[in-house]
Amino acid sequence: MHMIIILMYICICNAITERQVQAAVAEGASSLADLQAQLGVATCCGCCADTATEYLPGGRYVDQATTVQAAIPDFHRLVEKVALCA
Ligand code: FES
Repeated sequence: MHMIIILMYICICNAITERQVQAAVAEGASSLADLQAQLGVATCCGCCADTATEYLPGGRYVDQATTVQAAIPDFHRLVEKVALCA
């Protein structure tokens, strides 16, 4: 039996995954500044800031596991933004 693990990257510049962001929020991060300080998310090009913010209290991804299908549009937008920043 094989297990497939899908890592959803929120911040491509710093290789920060959705699970890392969710863990930081579960441990008390409540602002983008908290996520930046704890993980370094959105500290390079900043293109991931809006997506990372959606995992904070009040965001659309709070308290729910993001399905790959739901996250794909955000991922494509992020890739497009990072490509524009490069
Ligand atoms: S994608 Fe997060 S800082 Fe660039």
